[in-house]
Amino acid sequence: MPCAVIVGAQWGDCGKGKVVDYYSKDADMVVRYQGGCNAGHTVVVDGKKFKFHLIPSGVIQEKRLVIGNGVVLDLEVLYREIDDLRSKNISPNLLISERAHITLPVHKMLDGLQETSRGKSIGTTKRGIGPTYTDKISRSGLRMVDLLDSGTLDEKIEMIVEKKQKLLRYVYKSDVVLSKKEILDYCLKFRDGLKNYIGDASLEIHNAIKGGKKIILEGAQGTLLDIDHGTYPFVTSSNPTIGGALTGSGIGPKNLNIIIGVMKAYVTRVGGGPFPTELTGQIGNKIREKGAEFGTTTGRPRRCGWLDGVALRFATRVNGFDGLTVMKLDVLGGLEKVKICTAYEYDGKTIKEFPADLKVLEKCVPVYETLDGWHDFSEQEWRDIANKGYDALPNEMKDYLKKIEEIAEIPIYFVSIGPGRESTICMKEIF
Ligand code: IMP
Repeated sequence: MPCAVIVGAQWGDCGKGKVVDYYSKDADMVVRYQGGCNAGHTVVVDGKKFKFHLIPSGVIQEKRLVIGNGVVLDLEVLYREIDDLRSKNISPNLLISERAHITLPVHKMLDGLQETSRGKSIGTTKRGIGPTYTDKISRSGLRMVDLLDSGTLDEKIEMIVEKKQKLLRYVYKSDVVLSKKEILDYCLKFRDGLKNYIGDASLEIHNAIKGGKKIILEGAQGTLLDIDHGTYPFVTSSNPTIGGALTGSGIGPKNLNIIIGVMKAYVTRVGGGPFPTELTGQIGNKIREKGAEFGTTTGRPRRCGWLDGVALRFATRVNGFDGLTVMKLDVLGGLEKVKICTAYEYDGKTIKEFPADLKVLEKCVPVYETLDGWHDFSEQEWRDIANKGYDALPNEMKDYLKKIEEIAEIPIYFVSIGPGRESTICMKEIF
């Protein structure tokens, strides 16, 4: 079983960091394959909280870490993240793909300008993600490999300054004057600290597979934020779904053995866009407070809602999930009843498939199945339950989990009932 992929099944923030941290105990290598510092993966070990934006979540387990070509890199954030880990006596054993694209400060500036000039803002993280991927696709981006050759770096920055200056002046009517020297100095400032990590990631992953090593491919964001399959245009600019794991790491599909969808027991979303099961009242507020549903990257309050089975079936289909991990089940503790959406009603008809047309999705009314809720416990009590294993879970929670398996038609591999590593129950190891 050499290669496992961990993919978000919802709108992100579903607990991938914790799942990757758990399963990486048996892995040799963890590869991040897309997204950038818009992501915020949290790992809690012995009460200590670690947040990663770019570094793969296998870092605490001291695994070989690879940032694949599909990731976009903010040099400053990456540099700081490495520095911060070093200050905690963790020295990341890191390889960064030479093909990964670089997010420059001008990309962040453009992200902000694009957001304010849109009629309906997407609510991006303003980390320059969209503009960086735009440059990649329009074949004018700056890659990590370019940092290593001063001539190429100089040439490319000249071209970037010329293009972006026109964009700023004529499209956004901005009076910002870009300086080639400033951008060059910015790149050089981080080059020395990062250059020893840059290399051929695809080759190293390939050799690791050939050598029988165990690998986790770690996605960021989630299926419903996917540029192709998500709620377009309220999406991110990359492919968190399974195809992105291949193109973003540079390996072939036959190497993948197991694909795991990570979901929360409920659904959250940050930013704009339709959200059929959103709870705007008291229950939504309770979930937000209890689940600490505030963005890891931006601190924004997350919109909260009941579990959406239509979206879950869709995510299972487009990724070909083998199994699910269900996170934050403890957060729903204490609710008398819990609901799962099993279909939508639209225009007098029952819809069972996730619609592409946002005008339809916006008007979809969830059809709910109501189940009994479960008791609320303290963090310590949940830990004790986790220690005893699956059978010790409240019966109502087990019924809820069975319903999820029935809807997705795949098994649950792992449940999480608290923030720490110890509050997990794993029913299936992956290696
Ligand atoms: P961008 O990725 O910053 O361009 O933002 C596009 C959309 O994706 C916005 O709705 C963001 O809130 C959302 N988004 C981006 N990254 C994450 C994430 O890691 N978790 C949850 N939502 C995200």
